[in-house]
Amino acid sequence: MLSKINKIILKKNKSKIICLTAYSKNFAKEIDKYTDLILVGDSLGSVLYNYKTTRKVTLNMMIEHSKSVRLGISKSLMIVDMPYNTYRSKSEALKNCKKVMKETKCDGVKLEGGKKIKNIIEHLGKNKIPVLGHLGILPQSVRGKFKSKGKSLRERNQLMRDAKILENTGVFAIVLECVESSLSKTITKEIKIPTIGIGSSNNCDGQILVTDDILGLTDSKIKFVKKFVDVKKLVAKGAKKFNTEVKSKKYPSKKYSY
Ligand code: KIV
Repeated sequence: MLSKINKIILKKNKSKIICLTAYSKNFAKEIDKYTDLILVGDSLGSVLYNYKTTRKVTLNMMIEHSKSVRLGISKSLMIVDMPYNTYRSKSEALKNCKKVMKETKCDGVKLEGGKKIKNIIEHLGKNKIPVLGHLGILPQSVRGKFKSKGKSLRERNQLMRDAKILENTGVFAIVLECVESSLSKTITKEIKIPTIGIGSSNNCDGQILVTDDILGLTDSKIKFVKKFVDVKKLVAKGAKKFNTEVKSKKYPSKKYSY
């Protein structure tokens, strides 16, 4: 039987790979039918806790949210983001990734970076920990404004080089965040593993977005974010109805009382 990871790799050049984030069971359960991969992203720091950067997210936060997400997934591949400062050396990375894999029962982890973390990813591979790569904008390393990547020749060459390095280290796919369209196309063509774009055009083999963004739960103004439905309105509508019915004593009626 094909492993979930192999199934994702085999989608390259055949059908788009659909990925979304989840931070809890109820969301994971609803999106699972429509996704190939669910990422417990460290974006939960800004989305749920209003942190200015993902650097404040801890390993324990990732583990607790991931345990909840695990309860909601039945078919998608589950990947957990390794937070900042949890993979600075081979031994630190292995210890923390093993902990995440064991406690959350996820299928693999995501690490940000290229050449700089080559040895770490290789070490994880040797220890049978599946890794999803992440290039382009690396939120854990950004200070200040996020700028798209691949405008200068230097940056383009570096990204291409990093993508090849990651492919050779054995990552099963690479997230490309805010990479210029033609460069995403070249990278996607030049490497054998899938690319998952976020703000990197439809030239990638798959797409990922933050679920709270596509549901309109955040106020994101980022260029690549599309609001597919307005859940905020629904939440407000439900709360307003509850408010009205409690005040007017319509709720709880006999039907809802013991
Ligand atoms: O943290 C995150 O949610 C991510 C994305 C690729 C969406 O890394």
